[in-house]
Amino acid sequence: MKVFTKIKDIQEFLSEQKRNGKTIGFVPTMGYLHEGHLSLVKKATAENDLTVMSIFVNPIQFGPNEDFERYPRDFDRDRKLAEDNGVDVLFHPSVEEMYPEESIVQMNVKKRKDVLCGRTRKGHFDGVVTVLTKLFHITMPDRAYFGLKDAQQFAIVQGFVADLNFPIDIIGVETVREEDGLAKSSRNTYLSAQERKEAPEIYQALLKGKKAVENGVDDPAEIVRLVSDHIRQNTGGEIDYVEVLSFPELDPLERIKGKVIIATAVQFASARLIDNVILDLSR
Ligand code: PAJ
Repeated sequence: MKVFTKIKDIQEFLSEQKRNGKTIGFVPTMGYLHEGHLSLVKKATAENDLTVMSIFVNPIQFGPNEDFERYPRDFDRDRKLAEDNGVDVLFHPSVEEMYPEESIVQMNVKKRKDVLCGRTRKGHFDGVVTVLTKLFHITMPDRAYFGLKDAQQFAIVQGFVADLNFPIDIIGVETVREEDGLAKSSRNTYLSAQERKEAPEIYQALLKGKKAVENGVDDPAEIVRLVSDHIRQNTGGEIDYVEVLSFPELDPLERIKGKVIIATAVQFASARLIDNVILDLSR
């Protein structure tokens, strides 16, 4: 596995690979790798000649009161996991390398952002599309892989890549879970023992909502109530949101139909967990 920290060096290397006809699959991450990240790698290695992963905790997608400073980092461990799982090229730049000076342009996400996490995480998705634009130009991928656990991120990335005509296929990958159903996340390390015990109830709540929809409940408010009640009754976490929206447009629904997402964010003492289920009723 080749490891790069400088933009110029990785661009030079990957340009040469592309000239030789190699296809590139790209997996952007913030590191502290777990099986969720590695499932993206697995798909990328199956579909491309070269798998490129980035590990960069992107400061501009964190709000002033969020966890940028304490976001878990362990590069040595990540490097080994990446290598053992088939990553060919690892890009691990410093903040100074990525943002040497204040940008002269500002990217603003216009749609799909005033719901779910975007409602409270102001500017978060602007930071995500900015860093991804840079990373896409740096790695020049044919395909880029994103987890559906971050469904709003996926919906926005798909939209912005189509909008700006990036010649990149955006591929969504199913959420990888712990045995008890908790969605894998780097932030799960923040949970206390008690919270870790309660956290799988978030997925149970979503499954309850999904089942109700499949059984014919088509009132979004009723699903929101069902899911919220389950979370309140079974966890000490505070609900940030439970929403039922069209997917990937993320528009509110009068009645549940077509492709929809049931999504939630729950704030525990020191970890905010998100999860969702996506259903396609048109099939
Ligand atoms: P990060 O949270 O490290 O996630 C990197 C990728 O792994 C994302 O596409 C995310 O959806 C996916 N992922 C996380 N947990 C997963 C799980 N349990 N199952 C499947 N996939 C999972 O998302 C980011 O980083 C950043 O916003 C980034 C896109 C790198 C831009 O900075």
